[in-house]
Amino acid sequence: MSTRIPTRFTEMVGIRHPVMQDGMGSGSFTTGAIAAAVSAAGGLGSVSVADLWAEPKKAEKVFRAQMDFVASHTDLPFAANIPIGIDYTGDVIESSVQHLGYLLDARRADSALEKQLRVVTTSGGAPDRFRDAIRDAGLLHFCKVGSTRQALHAVRAGVDLVIASGYEMGGHTHSKPVHTFVLGPNVTEAVDVPVIVSGGVRDARGLAAALCFGADGVAMGTRFIATEESGWHPAIIERVLGAKEGDDVTFPGVYGPIRGLRNQATDTIERMVAEGRSDEEITEWKAAAFRRVQDEGDVLNGLFPTGQVASGIDSVVRIADFVPGIVAEAAKILAGLTGRAIDA
Ligand SMILES: Cc1cc2nc3c(=O)[nH]c(=O)nc-3n(C[C@H](O)[C@H](O)[C@H](O)COP(=O)(O)O)c2cc1C
Repeated sequence: MSTRIPTRFTEMVGIRHPVMQDGMGSGSFTTGAIAAAVSAAGGLGSVSVADLWAEPKKAEKVFRAQMDFVASHTDLPFAANIPIGIDYTGDVIESSVQHLGYLLDARRADSALEKQLRVVTTSGGAPDRFRDAIRDAGLLHFCKVGSTRQALHAVRAGVDLVIASGYEMGGHTHSKPVHTFVLGPNVTEAVDVPVIVSGGVRDARGLAAALCFGADGVAMGTRFIATEESGWHPAIIERVLGAKEGDDVTFPGVYGPIRGLRNQATDTIERMVAEGRSDEEITEWKAAAFRRVQDEGDVLNGLFPTGQVASGIDSVVRIADFVPGIVAEAAKILAGLTGRAIDA
């Protein structure tokens, strides 16, 4: 038995806690282990697209391995994140289309997976491009947005839930800086569908605040890196624990700016852009720089997407305790505040 705070999000997906781990693939990161731990703890974990540039056979293998890993570690629901990249002609990039295909094929081939993999989160824009395919497969469609305008667009496209993610978030952030404390309440006022708040959340206080905004839960990325279960390179975890305010920077990503920790790699990418290097050259360099972090833990010379919230993370937690723990603590915080009000 543990405290529960049921919301429209938990009821819609059929999970215990209003806590989500959002997609964290940017570049070459795999999140099967984090997703399995978050879902097993009663939240909603997400597998991620771990290599936008991989050749199709390898990309499918990596994506499928993450789904299989989660399914073999818990029978509770989980999600998958598909970033929708748009190329210069306005078409969806091949990798986004392929990854949705891998996911739909995997579910069609496995009825247990079909029941368990219930949610697709799209990010990056253009939720309408994949809306029919997601709905027709019987999946819930969550859409990550960085503005009220994008939230309204996503709702008009028919998505089931929006994730309002503030500019301080780690990974691909938004072209216009609207931070979580402004975006959260703006979006919950503007739309009727359930809302999850993300960007800068790391503990029960963030969850309590999101519920006060009228949201139905929180999603976190950076916090889940520094966990016993993440399996990420120890140097990456150490770097998150050591991050201070102001250590982050935004640098050019695949379909917009990425927030990460400033280092030699972010200086290099800025220089390459200033020198007018070709898109192909920059993309190739970036892909290798992301892999240097994930594979070798090279946080000095590799690109490492991280949120500003890293500055407040100073311990490694166990997801199995953390997820139910922040829900119980948020309930206490909210109840405690009621008792403090006075009419004077
Ligand atoms: C290492 C890392 C990789 C990420 N990769 C993706 C991704 O592939 N797709 C996506 O939609 N968001 C990605 N994000 C953003 C997260 O889904 C989430 O929105 C963000 O981490 C929330 O902010 P927080 O870091 O302050 O918790 C990534 C974030 C991190 C830290």
